[in-house]
Amino acid sequence: MGSIYLDNAATSFPKPPAVAEAMVRYIQEVGASVNRGVYAAAQEAGLTALQLREDLCRLLGHGDPTHCVLTSGNTMGLNMILRGWLRPGDHCLVSAMEHNAVMRPLHDLAAAGVSFDRVPCDGEGRLDPAEVGRMIRGNTRLVLLAHGSNVSGTVQDAAAVGQICREYGVPFALDAAQTAGHWTIDFTGWGLSALSAPGHKGLLGPGGTGALLLSPDFARGLTPLVTGGTGSASDLEIQPAYMPDRFEPGTPNLPGIYGLQAAVDFVLEKGVEALKARERALTARLLERLRETPGIRLAGPWGLEGRAGVVSVDFLGADNAEAAERLEREYGVLTRCGLHCAPSAHKTLGTFPRGTVRLSPGWATTVEEIDRAAAAVTAIAAGAVS
Ligand code: ALA
Repeated sequence: MGSIYLDNAATSFPKPPAVAEAMVRYIQEVGASVNRGVYAAAQEAGLTALQLREDLCRLLGHGDPTHCVLTSGNTMGLNMILRGWLRPGDHCLVSAMEHNAVMRPLHDLAAAGVSFDRVPCDGEGRLDPAEVGRMIRGNTRLVLLAHGSNVSGTVQDAAAVGQICREYGVPFALDAAQTAGHWTIDFTGWGLSALSAPGHKGLLGPGGTGALLLSPDFARGLTPLVTGGTGSASDLEIQPAYMPDRFEPGTPNLPGIYGLQAAVDFVLEKGVEALKARERALTARLLERLRETPGIRLAGPWGLEGRAGVVSVDFLGADNAEAAERLEREYGVLTRCGLHCAPSAHKTLGTFPRGTVRLSPGWATTVEEIDRAAAAVTAIAAGAVS
């Protein structure tokens, strides 16, 4: 009996076969860097990076590929937003559901004179967009939200928050860690100033890749965290102001760019709405089975509206880490237990410090795997309460 991978919220697995093929092809047959040579292989690499920017813009509702910055991952993208934008005396609003990729940089910035508040969320992890408006102050320079929670799957109403931020003239940034590739995102329509996404989760690419999409105004005011050679404007010892070079110093992760380009192609070809519908059906089935399971509590919404395919279970009669270990050892079900680098979210959901066992299906998960995983949870929960 093979194992059942239900840890796609951490990183998607398996990847579409084209991802590894593209990476191998780059390493074995292309090999060149971008912006640093005029020979054919260098131009091919440059065109692949450009294709990736165009595909990401198409997928995420952004109109200008020059403002799609390729990053080393979502943590980097979020740090670039927070540390590059906020200054001492500024105030930032986040939700009570943020990941430590947001909270840790914010605490660092707080030590340097930036203040922040958390917009409260209800017991399912959902915030009221109107509350964002009520909490904006005169010195609020940024609203940054986790679009989808990596603990409960709760998805915030980004369009409504974007509307409020526009009314107050405050830039709005979205952490799309759990929604890029899973959810239709409309950067321009939602009035976003910045969006950061990892390449290795719902976009189905390799680790060490990601994207930071910026509006022109936000990009102009954002200070690069790292500067250096870009292969462009080489006569200057200062960072070029133009995009995306301003935020992309150093030789990029080209195997990663090739892999991510193939992955995003796959997502575009399947269609986000089709992938979402499939994931929704699997999540519905999992929730339906778990609803009948005594001895567990769900952390987050039982319903399907405004939720992604991330399901967190609290075993009432057992230690959650032991339950996760048994899920793997006895049933081959691979999950992630604990606090998921999101203590604030667990406090909101009432599962701190106990944590939960998280099950997150992906594009390749089957109905049969969901049924086997649900039966395994039921068996462990029954043993724990008997
Ligand atoms: N943030 C990722 C997770 O939730 C790594 O597992």
